[in-house]
Amino acid sequence: MAGDNAAARILGTGFYVPPRVVTNDDLAQMFDTSDEWIQQRSGIQERRFSGPEDTPAAMGEKAARLAIANAGLAVEDIDMIIAATLSPDHDFPGSACFIQARLGLPGTAALDIRNQCTGLLYSLTVADALIRAGQHTNILVIGTEVHSTGIDLSTEGRDVAVLFGDGAAALVLGPTDNPEVGLLGHCLHADGRGARDLWIPAPGSSYFPHRAPKSMYEDKSVFPQMNGRAVFKHAVTKLPKVMAEVLEKTGYRLEDVDILVPHQANLRINEAVAKHMGIPPEKVVHNIMKYGNTTAASIGIAMHEAREDGRIQPGSLVLLAAFGSGFTWAASLVRF
Ligand code: COA
Repeated sequence: MAGDNAAARILGTGFYVPPRVVTNDDLAQMFDTSDEWIQQRSGIQERRFSGPEDTPAAMGEKAARLAIANAGLAVEDIDMIIAATLSPDHDFPGSACFIQARLGLPGTAALDIRNQCTGLLYSLTVADALIRAGQHTNILVIGTEVHSTGIDLSTEGRDVAVLFGDGAAALVLGPTDNPEVGLLGHCLHADGRGARDLWIPAPGSSYFPHRAPKSMYEDKSVFPQMNGRAVFKHAVTKLPKVMAEVLEKTGYRLEDVDILVPHQANLRINEAVAKHMGIPPEKVVHNIMKYGNTTAASIGIAMHEAREDGRIQPGSLVLLAAFGSGFTWAASLVRF
């Protein structure tokens, strides 16, 4: 077990996306939309849809094994698993338990975090605190989502259906004695007044007498519902604020940041935020074109790709920022 107050750092990263590529033209075969509309509004060109074998836990396990190998650790070195997902394998138990069983780690702590697009940053914050407290040593943080089986692939659901894709990302966090590196600080926020601006109403225990009302398919309350304009406004106002907040909290300036890895929800949102803050385009990671919005996985996938292509190097100062359903918004500052 780590000593008290050891800082935490990212030891390894990995991701997995299912092999089936679904292009905008493929979606246009299913309902009334077009490649032009989707690219203009969101920047998305294609996304992945999982098959029956790629459940959230199965994809989470694949991403986890890659991240553990990337960290130079063995599976047995992991002493806690945190899984962030809005699309768990089952209502209960959480997907972290299923991933733990798949990894063959009986007895290891397993926690699910339900914070949608900010799930990975909420999870990083919890993991960081547990490592600093000496409670756990090597924590696996996973974001994993299967959206494709839960969206309304008809013209009625097209505003949401075109935006989301399936995938998983994993990070391994561990202690470090080097005060120059690691997770430098986090800011987490939420405003539940916007809870119904991006949500799936049913099934749920607020329904009586049955949590899965028979009407949920007819009235489509089983599908995600989004007030797109409200979400857009929330994102472009809160993201700059939370990024500035985490920089102030940690004593860094925006110019010190080598690279921004934002949640991949909409290329236009991220471009607008970067422009507003004066961050040059080459300092912002975008991969939404290939994967759509993979929610809790998106920052992890983008971070791993930026490490792979050399944009994140040892010593890089990386700003992570996310917003989404809840509403929730968050930022973390990391030195690799
Ligand atoms: N294909 C074609 N047309 C579509 C469409 C689609 N997939 N989805 C909606 N439309 C139509 C609408 O029906 C509407 O038609 P109308 O003018 O005849 O009524 C028109 O396009 C404009 O719709 P609107 O909702 O006003 O578009 P918009 O410019 O606000 O863009 C979003 C919609 C969803 C792209 C935008 O609001 C957005 O990006 N919001 C944030 C979403 C987000 O990031 N969600 C995830 C958060 S984690």
